Amino acid sequence: MNPKNFKRYTVTAALPYANGPLHIGHLAGCYIPSDIYVRYLRSRERDVAYVCGSDEHGVAITIKARKEGISPQEVVDRYHEMMKRSFAEFGISFDHYSRTSAKIHHETASGFFEDLYQKGEFLEQTTQQYYDEEAGQFLADRYIEGTCPKCGHEHAYGDQCEKCGSSLSPTDLINPKSKLSGSTPVLKDTKHWFLDLARYTDFLKNWILVDHEKDWKTNVLGQCRSWLEAGEGLQARSMTRDMDWGIPVPVEGAEGKVLYVWFDAPIGYISSTKEWAAEKGIDWEPYWKDEGTKLVHFIGKDNIVFHCIIFPAILKTHGGYVLPDNVPANEFLNLEGDKISTSRSWAVWLHEYLEAFPGKQDVLRYVLTANAPETKDNDFTWKDYQLRNNSELVAIFGNFVNRAVVLTHKFYNGLVPALGDLSDIDRDALAALLEFPEKIAASIERYRFREALSYVMDFARTGNKYLADTEPWKSIKDNPERTATVLNIALNIAANLAIVAEPFLPHTAAKMYKMFGLSGLNWGDAGKHGLLKTGKTIQPAELLFDKVEDETVAAQVNKLMETKKQNEMAVAPVTPMKDIITYDDFAKLDMRVVKVLAAEPMPKSKKLLKLSVDTGLGTRTVLSGVAEHFKPEDLIGKQVVMLINLAPRKIMGIDSEGMILMAEDKDGSLRLLLPGSETANGSTIS
Ligand code: MF3
Ligand code: ZN
Repeated sequence: MNPKNFKRYTVTAALPYANGPLHIGHLAGCYIPSDIYVRYLRSRERDVAYVCGSDEHGVAITIKARKEGISPQEVVDRYHEMMKRSFAEFGISFDHYSRTSAKIHHETASGFFEDLYQKGEFLEQTTQQYYDEEAGQFLADRYIEGTCPKCGHEHAYGDQCEKCGSSLSPTDLINPKSKLSGSTPVLKDTKHWFLDLARYTDFLKNWILVDHEKDWKTNVLGQCRSWLEAGEGLQARSMTRDMDWGIPVPVEGAEGKVLYVWFDAPIGYISSTKEWAAEKGIDWEPYWKDEGTKLVHFIGKDNIVFHCIIFPAILKTHGGYVLPDNVPANEFLNLEGDKISTSRSWAVWLHEYLEAFPGKQDVLRYVLTANAPETKDNDFTWKDYQLRNNSELVAIFGNFVNRAVVLTHKFYNGLVPALGDLSDIDRDALAALLEFPEKIAASIERYRFREALSYVMDFARTGNKYLADTEPWKSIKDNPERTATVLNIALNIAANLAIVAEPFLPHTAAKMYKMFGLSGLNWGDAGKHGLLKTGKTIQPAELLFDKVEDETVAAQVNKLMETKKQNEMAVAPVTPMKDIITYDDFAKLDMRVVKVLAAEPMPKSKKLLKLSVDTGLGTRTVLSGVAEHFKPEDLIGKQVVMLINLAPRKIMGIDSEGMILMAEDKDGSLRLLLPGSETANGSTIS
């Protein structure tokens, strides 16, 4: 559809669950693409509402609360604030960031439910669900664990086996157990309100597979097709849950039940728009109800069914609302070859990035866009981050702008020099000025942000090459007029570059505008030569990007390796217990606190250290096989635990008179056993 037909835009980005900090997967999935799109629309002076907020209901929240031993309210309060702050600092330019615990949202979501209820849209069905009699509550799928019927994994969840990936329902599990109390749950009748999605099949097929066959992304159409054309067709979905955290179901006979989180959360886009409009003193309704509004949902691929099928069915049934014009869902971003996971801490967290890389928001935006999972899953690696920063942002973009500004200061005291006669090479450069903004815009309008960004870089490359080809630093000697012309053109390319780069690299564009003394420019100004008029003062060059050093990425990679090790240790089995012994067996062991007086490597041995220890009963020599774990200086002066009545043994010609005791971690690394505070040498252990 021709974008010019739309009077206004409502752009949404998936409401993140308030159960953990934001990471690069979130950013690449929907927040960076939506922000690029909206910044571009604003630059085109289109009327936009860009809304988001925290998703504060559902099992994701209550599970986190249980894990941390705090209330769900505490969980959402903590993460709502944290996410809001990180988004702002990173430069995601929401017009409004709300939360689903807001009163206006409870009212809006309840209102929708009541409307559908009154229209008789829900199927009321009583089904049997697992109930924990000890905890006195029905169990959400994630609260039930048992053996997977497909692969025998003993810790499969009620909705899915993480080992073999099968989707399950709780009654499929063999030997189900409640995660709340550990008891065996019982099946109990419960009434719920279902949306009969099958009734929307024809409408959805036409609207998605026919009307939007050409303009929706292939990955999105593919998923929709498989939902809509699956053998058994669309199944009725319950829009209510037995839970005590969420929006109470606003009908009689629904005590103790709340709205399904996927019923209320998308309505959060509407509530957020209402809140925004109220603060601005404008009417929210056109943003959702006027046919001239283009509604676009940015999401990750796991949200497709909710945004393309369920939410549109709800909006359609309610009536009076526009449906999304597009749902440009991204695939997933992996991290160093592994799936990003909050519970396994396998992520690059936004708040940690902002702290470790101050002022480098745009580098991350750049890398996550250049490598965006637009059509398939992609991998983020720190190596790639470094490479793209050093060889693209620094070497091309930054280098071009820097040279243009530095030379202008060097030769013309920072004043834009005059344009003289044009040669072919100049005319080509000026043609690029006209061409790039249009090309970039066309890609953005089609949600092809990677492609658009590659054109932005091509534009910077064009500028860089123009300077390399014309060599204004040489012509200054015998043809200064030529240098003036070239710098005039180069500066104007740079000013144009700031305009088209702004949606992608807003912090960088702001620095460029400052250098050029420009403000209030927008897309409509792009393509013009003469943004920087002859005689205009340019500020001294400010560095746009700097090199990312090897040590910097090594530190990040090490941090991840550490996480990986921790994760592996967490699942590695603990050595099983040895056979039971009697107290008398134990009493035979004479263990003491001893002090290491001296330690030195044993000649010709990789493993052994020769220690001299004060046992309180005299000084002894002990050979200990720890040379691969400790240096002599790690041990000297330390008090450790030693078995002193072990029969002496000759090793490499030396009598070893005892054994130093150590703890061996799951990965084979050794730890000293240190008394909690200084203890007399020779103190017994029992
Ligand atoms: N919280 C969901 C997730 O992180 C997304 C909700 S999107 C909304 O997957 F539409 F429901 F808001
Ligand atoms: Zn399984």
